[in-house]
Amino acid sequence: MSAMTRRIVLARFCDGPPVAEDFRIEDAPMPEPREGQFLVRNILISVDPGTRARLSGKPSYIPPLKLGATVGAFSIGEIIESRHPDFAPGEIVSLADGWAEHVIGDPRGFVRRITDRRLPLAAWLGVLGVSGMTAWFGLHRVASLKAGETVVVTSAAGAVGSAAGQLARIHGCTVIGVAGGQAKCDWMTEVAHFDAAIDYKATADLPAAIAAAAPKGIDVLFDNVGNAMIDQVIPLMRQNGRIVVSGQVDAYNSDESAVEGIRNTRAFITHRLMMQGLVVFDDLPNWGAAEAAMADHMVSGELVGRWEVLPGGLEATPDAFAGLFRGENTGRRLVRLAPDPDDFPKDAS
Ligand SMILES: NC(=O)c1ccc[n+]([C@@H]2O[C@H](COP(=O)([O-])OP(=O)(O)OC[C@H]3O[C@@H](n4cnc5c(N)ncnc54)[C@H](OP(=O)(O)O)[C@@H]3O)[C@@H](O)[C@H]2O)c1
Repeated sequence: MSAMTRRIVLARFCDGPPVAEDFRIEDAPMPEPREGQFLVRNILISVDPGTRARLSGKPSYIPPLKLGATVGAFSIGEIIESRHPDFAPGEIVSLADGWAEHVIGDPRGFVRRITDRRLPLAAWLGVLGVSGMTAWFGLHRVASLKAGETVVVTSAAGAVGSAAGQLARIHGCTVIGVAGGQAKCDWMTEVAHFDAAIDYKATADLPAAIAAAAPKGIDVLFDNVGNAMIDQVIPLMRQNGRIVVSGQVDAYNSDESAVEGIRNTRAFITHRLMMQGLVVFDDLPNWGAAEAAMADHMVSGELVGRWEVLPGGLEATPDAFAGLFRGENTGRRLVRLAPDPDDFPKDAS
């Protein structure tokens, strides 16, 4: 009998927050690499809030996933068979091919080679992966961040937000993080050394709380949450302020027609504001330099990676994903499918 593997497919379109019944684990024949490809055994897979935007069967900012298709995600794994001259068995790579025990790597798509052994493997799916790159390019390319500015980050204890806040602090900025719950706020001030942390779930007047923490106003808003959040912060922006639209976690479970609008647009004129989104893959040619700088910051201890690795394999993945929308994750949430290779520092989680 030929070798088999397993993957998670979309069993039905999500309606509201994702639930386990939306997904199905399937047995599948082991994929076979063609010329120029390689076979990867996944070690860690990610759960990403943005994936939800593809699961309703309706057009979104990315094409919808078809029923029966493997659910998208990032992973890190080991090459176990190669038909590519530059990729050898035993090499560790990061890919974007979904919730599956084995995937085909093809350098014509997204493949990052992981050669730096100074940090745990999980870091390369979080602060050194798509999350950290979104923070880096959002702040540096989109917002043109300058030392001395005041930065507000939302979902600031999450994977992208925790990296964005720390990068802004390292750049010499005053950082105010907004997140849900006291434990997340404590982490932001005590571990990530943000200047202020605000628990939006326990704050009746969020704009007043942000204004108290930023009496001179805000130069950059790095937003991971959505329009209602942005609308509350716009009146606090300074002249020439920039709003980076990174994500809309508050909107991914809603119909496009139910997404809130932004009312406070006059400030774009009076305060010469700029608002711009990003798709981090546009910056792929420049990831290498950003990854190297971020890895150095981590090794020096200036930048603290925030991630959790959940046990339980593929079976645990749908609920790990659903938990993102309940605010359960502490930073980047990953699921372990296989043990780390011996030559990476061990992960505490
Ligand atoms: N533009 C790009 O290229 C790009 C690339 C990667 C990711 N992203 C986006 O970046 C954002 C952050 O991604 P991430 O991976 O770091 O995820 P994340 O911020 O860790 O997302 C999960 C967190 O979102 C918060 N949340 C959930 N529902 C919420 C709601 N209704 N209102 C406010 N907060 C809510 C919760 O934190 P609290 O407990 O604090 O509420 C939860 O722990 C996402 O929107 C993602 O789509 C963009």
